[in-house]
Amino acid sequence: MVNQNLRVLSGIQPSGSLHIGNYFGMMSRMIHYQKNNELFCFIANYHALTSLPSSEELSINTFNAACDFLSLGLDPERSTFWIQSDVPEVTELTWILSSHVNLGLMDRSTSYKDKITKGLKSNMGLYSYPILMAADILLFDSEIVPVGKDQKQHLEITRDIANKFNNSFGDIFKIPEPDIEKENQLIPGIDGKKMSKSYDNTIPIFDTDIKIRKKIMKIITDTADINAPKNTDNPLFNVYSLFLDDEGKKTLKERYNEPGLRYGDLKQELFERVMDYFAPFREKRSELISKPDFVYNVLEEGARKAKLIANNVLERVRSASGINYKL
Ligand code: TRP
Repeated sequence: MVNQNLRVLSGIQPSGSLHIGNYFGMMSRMIHYQKNNELFCFIANYHALTSLPSSEELSINTFNAACDFLSLGLDPERSTFWIQSDVPEVTELTWILSSHVNLGLMDRSTSYKDKITKGLKSNMGLYSYPILMAADILLFDSEIVPVGKDQKQHLEITRDIANKFNNSFGDIFKIPEPDIEKENQLIPGIDGKKMSKSYDNTIPIFDTDIKIRKKIMKIITDTADINAPKNTDNPLFNVYSLFLDDEGKKTLKERYNEPGLRYGDLKQELFERVMDYFAPFREKRSELISKPDFVYNVLEEGARKAKLIANNVLERVRSASGINYKL
């Protein structure tokens, strides 16, 4: 994928229940990076605030997101994992950057307009969202930033901001490289479109058995005759394949060609596989949820590690921009 020992950073909004698309997409990339690189990963609760969730929803989602990640394999010993607001230095950098970003750059940002079109209430936080994200990235001298395709423009804006700042003040910021999720890494949802919370087509990991089964039973299939050979280019085959090795995929393909295959039976099998696969993670998660003090400690330690880097970078920025008045 990329070289080793680079500093990789990504933030994830705490937006409710994680699904298998998150797991096989973003999560597996994180775990991969955690092995050979220096991974920085945080729960972006300041970003979530911009869409104005209720305070209860935001705090619960933030804590739950932390438990989700820790139970799915994010290892706080091998990475730096924290809650965005536990390193509030990022808001200071946002403010300093804001003073150097001209409105033209912000007006080109499509995410603000998209969100307003979708019905989100306009506010300055939503408008400044890309600057906060630039601050997240630049505050840690990040080298690689793995994100979904929808975040590509935010990375371009980040690079723009960093380059302009460097042109004015010298080499203050590292210029980050995006690592954009490839089309072929997209996990299909139960309707065949990219699995995404906003399409309501997900298979959740931590919901009740009944809810997970219900979602799997809803995976769209065609109306091929039970005895006809069936097309493997569909969400049921593709989702099932995520849980199979090469041998298993070959066998499944053969079964698609044989008469008598019932989609309903396959869905039941898939449900059982999903439950088996995620059983240890589900167990770990309920354990974490019941031990909040343990989780708080892990997060505090993550914030402590993150602050060490953040304060270094912020000192450079404060001096360069004149905020540090002690000569
Ligand atoms: N905006 C990102 C998203 O919605 C989340 C995010 C916030 C992020 N800060 C970041 C991602 C910094 C990468 C780097 O997916």
